[in-house]
Amino acid sequence: MHVIALSATLLGLDAEPVRVEVDAARHVPSFEIVGLAETSVRGSRVRVKSALGQIGLDLSEYRVIVNLAPADVRKNESSFDLAIAVAILASVGVVPVESIDGVLFLGELSLSGAVHPLRGVLAHLMNAKKRGDRRAIVPHGNEGEAGFISGIDVRTVESLAEMIQSLRGDIELPRPTGARRVAASSKVDNLDEVHGQFGARRALEIAASGGHNLLMIGPPGSGKTMLARRLPGLLPPLSNAEALEVTAIHSVAGLLTSNASFRPSRPFRSPHHSVSDVGLIGGGEGPRLGEVTLAHHGVLFLDELPEFRRSTLEGLRLPLEDGVVTISRARAKATFPAQPMLVCAMNPCPCGFLGDGTRRCACSAERVRTYRSRLSGPLLDRIDIHVVLPPVKVTELQQTSRDESTETVGARVASAREVQSSRASRLGFASHVNSGLTLRELETAAPLSARSAELLASALTMHALSARAYTRVLRVARTIADMAGEVDVSPEHIAESVGLRVFERGLRSAAT
Ligand SMILES: Nc1ncnc2c1ncn2[C@@H]1O[C@H](COP(=O)(O)OP(=O)(O)OP(=O)(O)O)[C@@H](O)[C@H]1O
Ligand SMILES: [Mg+2]
Repeated sequence: MHVIALSATLLGLDAEPVRVEVDAARHVPSFEIVGLAETSVRGSRVRVKSALGQIGLDLSEYRVIVNLAPADVRKNESSFDLAIAVAILASVGVVPVESIDGVLFLGELSLSGAVHPLRGVLAHLMNAKKRGDRRAIVPHGNEGEAGFISGIDVRTVESLAEMIQSLRGDIELPRPTGARRVAASSKVDNLDEVHGQFGARRALEIAASGGHNLLMIGPPGSGKTMLARRLPGLLPPLSNAEALEVTAIHSVAGLLTSNASFRPSRPFRSPHHSVSDVGLIGGGEGPRLGEVTLAHHGVLFLDELPEFRRSTLEGLRLPLEDGVVTISRARAKATFPAQPMLVCAMNPCPCGFLGDGTRRCACSAERVRTYRSRLSGPLLDRIDIHVVLPPVKVTELQQTSRDESTETVGARVASAREVQSSRASRLGFASHVNSGLTLRELETAAPLSARSAELLASALTMHALSARAYTRVLRVARTIADMAGEVDVSPEHIAESVGLRVFERGLRSAAT
């Protein structure tokens, strides 16, 4: 009898529905699967046959044909096992055909008939909800993330035997119970452990307040890595929608722990400089999610920036501008969200001591130039704030009084973000942080007095800043004014913003 069960395949974070069509009849035994990548077919056939054997259904008496449609969607997952098995069971009359109607089945089977957890279950369920599916069965091992979704009847299953009992109406499968929407109590590194570095602390606070990208330049051991790691702690907790998206991304990437039911904290990703283009941006087989997507709504930290391959960094340009990574496939285009705050760190020169008043720099001017030329101009242009860190003084390290803590600075960041958010709602801006405002929006959000406009114009000419830099200087100035609780952007705000922009000038001042 011809039977159809529903399943789905993931392309990044998007899911395409897949119809599993099965025809099983008593005949010369055979078991064919079409519409699935060759390597996956063999595994699926073995697992489904063995799992059905375990519950007493011997397929050697049947001719079974399985078709996964549509045929032109690339499918090479093991997540169709459960749908194939239930469709066969319905086709041979072990379970009623109506019982599988309109239900989305996701799960990989083991040889013994256990239903194994899968990657990307939350992404599957978010798509199912969007499509208007009413009911879904997912592996019990995924109940933590499945508990995040509401508005669709989700049940979890542990074994094929249990699945059959439920389809026959003998038992009711449990709903996921794991959803505890509370933040996991993770101890964050505190900002009060960083001594001195007032300029960099201020730059970090501005970056956190307005969601701006940040570049820190300083000698080894000046606290660049320390500061970067403390940025996620300064940002407000993820909203419900953000938490859902971050969990779905981590689910697809196979990074969820068994604590998936907890609200995630802001991601902090720090890829090594040897990372490949695909590793950083995403794509390739699968396609894989890159670090820029894994850091979505969090922080992407590129330590030792000049050591990254230039081509890899160039790949970041579009995602940084658009907030998404677009990957083209023969039939479909996948887009992955990619809106992290970018934080970069580097030494001022190869030996690291250029501008360090205490140690001599051993680099020739030519070496310094070559080192800096590895940075991509267009990428630097996309970093709103450049800050130079001096070496830490021993007296600063020995001071016993604590500097401001993550809690104190985080509270100020939260109120600056509140100001931006209410302005964005009032004026109908898409972005609720200043880093996302367009030039047109800034005209309304940050009108300049004649003095401010004059100061900005002369700074741009003096430092030969690009048109992109103009917008970015304005955004940062808007943030500085918001932090001060001021409606107007004053010349002081513009001056501080320009000072945070000028990479070369900053390096020169560090060298004197
Ligand atoms: N401002 C600071 N306050 C307190 N400790 C500091 C500070 N700067 C550096 N340290 C100490 O030095 C260690 C190294 O700091 P960190 O890794 O942040 O330096 P860095 O600037 O990233 O250096 P590199 O250029 O070598 O990567 C820290 O773990 C900390 O113990
Ligand atoms: Mg470091």
